[in-house]
Amino acid sequence: MSDNFTRQLYIDLLKRCLTNTIYFRPTEEIGYDFRDEGKDWPDDAHTMIGLKRIDNIQFCVEKVLMDNIPGDLMETGVWKGGATIFMRGLLKAYGITNRSVWVADSFEGLPRPDLHNYPHDQGIDLYQFSELAVSLSEVQDNFDRYGLLDDQVKFVKGWFKDSLPQAPVQQLAVLRLDGDLYESTVNALDNLYPKLTPGGFLIVDDYGAVEACSQAVHDYRRRNGIEDEIIPVDWTGVFWQKTK
Ligand SMILES: C[S@@+](CC[C@H](N)C(=O)[O-])C[C@H]1O[C@@H](n2cnc3c(N)ncnc32)[C@H](O)[C@@H]1O
Repeated sequence: MSDNFTRQLYIDLLKRCLTNTIYFRPTEEIGYDFRDEGKDWPDDAHTMIGLKRIDNIQFCVEKVLMDNIPGDLMETGVWKGGATIFMRGLLKAYGITNRSVWVADSFEGLPRPDLHNYPHDQGIDLYQFSELAVSLSEVQDNFDRYGLLDDQVKFVKGWFKDSLPQAPVQQLAVLRLDGDLYESTVNALDNLYPKLTPGGFLIVDDYGAVEACSQAVHDYRRRNGIEDEIIPVDWTGVFWQKTK
């Protein structure tokens, strides 16, 4: 068996565990497509993003590793941590010890919309859902369950508007945004996109699902003259490769 074949077996099993396609029992309302496409907030899985968006993370991380694009991996908006656990697992599978995974969240759910500064967030009441508030210790425990909690994982706790400007992130190769709101998306872009190395990838989870999020992306791209092609991942996720 080649090393790569064995590595891919680990990565495949990690995906099935994180999305819980293993023990999942489909019902009339929630079928297997919910696991593929990440359409619900599963009680019994460590990520809500589904297999297609997990595959996209693998594509982006493997590409930056193969092309030697320098920088760390980061997600802003992690919920139970599943997507970042997967990033750490990929680094482990490839024996990478000189890159870290940055895990940024309030660890207490979404903020109440700040309509004075971000009127596009009108009507987004996700701050009311306690299911979206997962504590830092619970996320750390989830990393630990996979044997992936170590000093290559860095936690950034707080509201993005406060935490991201001072996060000690130097350089990123993959940046994944999953904070739903206009505010959360634009805070992450303003503070972190300049740290993304050309050749690296920007992934936006909520582009199709939340109009305010796609508006934030378009406003940021327009302000910064970004014309890199936006590539769809599934019904909501998109990504692009930063060219300059
Ligand atoms: C949809 S969930 C993320 C799903 C996750 N990526 C996964 O793999 O399942 C959104 C997360 O973003 C966080 N969040 C959204 N806006 C935020 C903000 N402005 N500051 C800090 N955390 C925020 C919430 O706490 C929540 O954990």
